Amino acid sequence: MNQQAALRHAFVLGHPVAHSRSPRLHTFWLKNLKIAGTYRPIDLEPADLAEFFSKMRDGAFAGGNVTIPLKEKIAELCDDVDDAATKIGAINTLVQHDGKISGSNSDYYGFLANLDQNVPQWDQADGKPLNHAIVLGAGGASRAIIYALLQRGIDKISLLNRTVERTEALASEFGPRLDPGPMSAFAQCAGTAGFVVNTTAVGMHGSAFDGLELHALPPSALVTDLVYTPLVTPLLRDAQKRGLKTVDGLGMLLHQAVPGFEKWFGQRPFVTPQLRQHIEQDL
Ligand code: ATR
Repeated sequence: MNQQAALRHAFVLGHPVAHSRSPRLHTFWLKNLKIAGTYRPIDLEPADLAEFFSKMRDGAFAGGNVTIPLKEKIAELCDDVDDAATKIGAINTLVQHDGKISGSNSDYYGFLANLDQNVPQWDQADGKPLNHAIVLGAGGASRAIIYALLQRGIDKISLLNRTVERTEALASEFGPRLDPGPMSAFAQCAGTAGFVVNTTAVGMHGSAFDGLELHALPPSALVTDLVYTPLVTPLLRDAQKRGLKTVDGLGMLLHQAVPGFEKWFGQRPFVTPQLRQHIEQDL
């Protein structure tokens, strides 16, 4: 008997959604893995979410991704939400199974997998978990990164932001391993920090940090940025000039897509140089 797998459909929901690179990414994997499935952008007003969820429960979709401004609004519509999405406060992946919808967050996974692929052992120093990292920014993106670094056992996270009150709020939520402060505390914190990540919007549209004292970091420090347009942000360029290791932010976008694709289409895809090149062509 000719048993053909049912055609499965996935989506990215947003409002607007045209900017999303996820359709290009997932369609690349569908084609390369020869999977009969679709992944398409759907522009949805927040008010239409409940109706969309009932279509999904009826089997119209295997699941999909969710982007701004819906990420923080859909928990109540899901049947269950995983620990990461609950603590991070945002869902970016939905999976429909037997009419039930699960919400999860793969941003923290993507962040870690990108670093693991590019700098194995990045989170270790002398065989132990790295003891000190600096996170720049205290907005939505910062929450996934804090969650990820805590998961990896990093002992102390200096959380620095232009608006210091936001770092204090996150520290009281995520616990005593967080040390909140203003951006101006960078030089003071840098001496023992093996890792720095920018989660702010600084670096986009020609913007740059004003005098961040990278010279105060240990020479072994790794610097990474969530901003990937441009791929080499002023922060990464400065770090490279000083001989520090760097990882750009595009890999996080590619890796965060892996768990969703695997659940919707039944095959775990790989992040390869070919995929990266395909997405870079469209940046
Ligand atoms: P996201 O979900 O992308 O994190 P967000 O919640 O609006 O978006 O947070 C944006 C982050 O970028 C914040 O840390 C913000 O700092 P403030 O909390 O002080 O606003 C930071 N940010 C944006 N523009 C900035 C700038 N020009 N200089 C410094 N920080 C900036």
